[in-house]
Amino acid sequence: MSMTALARTALPVEPDRLDATAFAADVVAGLTAMPKRLPPKYFYDSAGSELFERITTLPEYYPTRCELGILREHADDIADLAPTGSALIEFGSGASTKTRIVLRAAKNLATYVPVDISAEFLRQQADALKSEFPGIAMLPVAADFGRPFELPVTVRSAPRIGFFPGSTIGNLEPHEAAAFLRQAARILGRGARLVVGVDLIKDADVLHNAYNDSQGVTAQFNKNLLVRINRELGARFNLEAFEHHAFFNRERNRIEMHLASLKRQRVAVCGERIEFKVGETIHTENSYKYSVESFSCLARGAGWTPVSTWTDRNDYFSVHVLSLNDEPPQPSAP
Ligand code: AVJ
Repeated sequence: MSMTALARTALPVEPDRLDATAFAADVVAGLTAMPKRLPPKYFYDSAGSELFERITTLPEYYPTRCELGILREHADDIADLAPTGSALIEFGSGASTKTRIVLRAAKNLATYVPVDISAEFLRQQADALKSEFPGIAMLPVAADFGRPFELPVTVRSAPRIGFFPGSTIGNLEPHEAAAFLRQAARILGRGARLVVGVDLIKDADVLHNAYNDSQGVTAQFNKNLLVRINRELGARFNLEAFEHHAFFNRERNRIEMHLASLKRQRVAVCGERIEFKVGETIHTENSYKYSVESFSCLARGAGWTPVSTWTDRNDYFSVHVLSLNDEPPQPSAP
């Protein structure tokens, strides 16, 4: 992901260079840290986004299918959430089937507010949806949804429903997830609802297989980070010398993805010599899993009241409906 649209116009640097500088700084910081790590947001260049789309269709990767099923099954409940004149605010607007299911289900929706960091992506999405949903006003907001931003004035007095699907919240550390929920409360305001997709704790083999698919697409998705560093930062990672590792960490209820060095090696990245021991890893992603209770508890701690939880018949995935009955929590002092 990139800088905000504001930064793009405000700084006298070409946007691509600015992005490249941030990427280089994050990569050097992560690879010189102990243990080595890289931020998962860098998975999603165009090759990575395509690989992720392929992941969502893999037989072993249940989350997308389960969540789509849950949303389809609860179309009537979604309609009930959205009274006449209401606005749907999507955090990190997806290109997705999920959005379309909700827009179709919420028959009385007046406005759709996709919030995404990429202004270009937003424009394309809004244009595509406009012809499909002529009755819904599209008000895209270019912003980093993890930071404070203002809703368009016209939706501030309408009934507001936030939407944060895909278990994207699982990429955050639990304290960051709570901070996101508090932030969403401040943005949406009192009386709002929030619909969040959350992956559930389940049989370790099912989890393991979802991140170790037999076709190796997840491994390719993970290694694409190195491909990207080679291409954009002129490094020379040997893809053969690293291996995809994904496992369920039971103590912390999270899938961890790593890239493990198969040999002792040294790689130059942006003028830094990065040394790897045999078996040493770069930690590339956490994907936290919750129980219905543990997520409800996290949401309550962030000021939200759980009103319903929908799951698939295997209890693999959950969609929580939260309500903001009180004043949103104030930002904590720095
Ligand atoms: C998009 C973060 C929800 O954690 O399951 C899929 C990303 N990583 N396979 C997830 C992912 C490996 C995905 N999220």
